[in-house]
Amino acid sequence: MSVQIGFIGAGKMAEALIGGLVSKNVFSKDEIIACAPSQLTRDRVESIYGIKMYEKATDVVSKADIIVLAVKPKNVQDLFEKEKVTIGKGKILISIVAGLTLTKMNYYVPDAKKVRVMPNHCCMVLEGAMGYTCDPSMESTDIKRVNEILSSVGLAVEVPESQMDAVTGIAGSSPAFLYMVIDAMAEAGVLNGLSRDQAVELAAQSMLGSAKMVLETKKHPEQLRDEVCSPGGTTIVGVKILEDLGLRSAIASAVDGTIAKSREMSQE
Ligand SMILES: NC(=O)c1ccc[n+]([C@@H]2O[C@H](COP(=O)([O-])OP(=O)(O)OC[C@H]3O[C@@H](n4cnc5c(N)ncnc54)[C@H](OP(=O)(O)O)[C@@H]3O)[C@@H](O)[C@H]2O)c1
Repeated sequence: MSVQIGFIGAGKMAEALIGGLVSKNVFSKDEIIACAPSQLTRDRVESIYGIKMYEKATDVVSKADIIVLAVKPKNVQDLFEKEKVTIGKGKILISIVAGLTLTKMNYYVPDAKKVRVMPNHCCMVLEGAMGYTCDPSMESTDIKRVNEILSSVGLAVEVPESQMDAVTGIAGSSPAFLYMVIDAMAEAGVLNGLSRDQAVELAAQSMLGSAKMVLETKKHPEQLRDEVCSPGGTTIVGVKILEDLGLRSAIASAVDGTIAKSREMSQE
């Protein structure tokens, strides 16, 4: 087996991807390598996934044709300027680094084929939602390969780079909003006598099931909502209260504000 894919960085997001690639049989563990400066991380990742680990990014880029950049934004400049990591012509660099645009990537690795990804942390349970954008040098077979890799940890949608800020709002940040909804629902459950654990589990499972209903039935969310509301029943009472309190407007404003902040940060 020859090495196919290498990870620069082996933290939470890289681990999620490595786990997804192995469990979905996209690559075997012998085809994956990664690097991290700390011995602790190298030992941990090697023992969990059985992949070969290196200390230096230069070892990874010399051995793999597809490279995933999974370091923190603050590490990027040193990686390319101090450690002199270069990625040659024909190799694919998939970056999941927040805010690292294709233009900035082009400055560091002009010859590589480049992909910018905005994932969310639900990748850690293989239920991520992410947008990705590819530079024009990518051929359709490259894009298909990239899609297969990203899809191992969730839903991956190709978008123009101008829409990456919108992806940040609706996928990158939205888990935080949805956790708040789960917590609020659980709070009401506790108020009405359920144990905290049961209330959280029931609320979370209801959110998971509702999301699956939308994705699998392809029905409009409003239609599904109507199907749950019997005339004169319990659910329509709650729906009216949420409408009166402005739930839709609050959520749309939160996502919109997040997108605006992401746009502002992309300009910096
Ligand atoms: N976490 C999220 O929910 C999320 C969501 C969307 C996007 N992202 C993006 O994903 C990227 C990774 O996030 P994360 O949460 O996985 O971070 P993390 O857990 O802190 O992992 C970062 C990894 O980079 C390694 N590293 C640091 N400097 C390095 C170098 N010079 N060469 C090679 N490896 C180096 C670290 O090694 P050590 O372990 O040895 O310190 C660590 O393994 C970030 O850029 C973030 O913007 C994260």
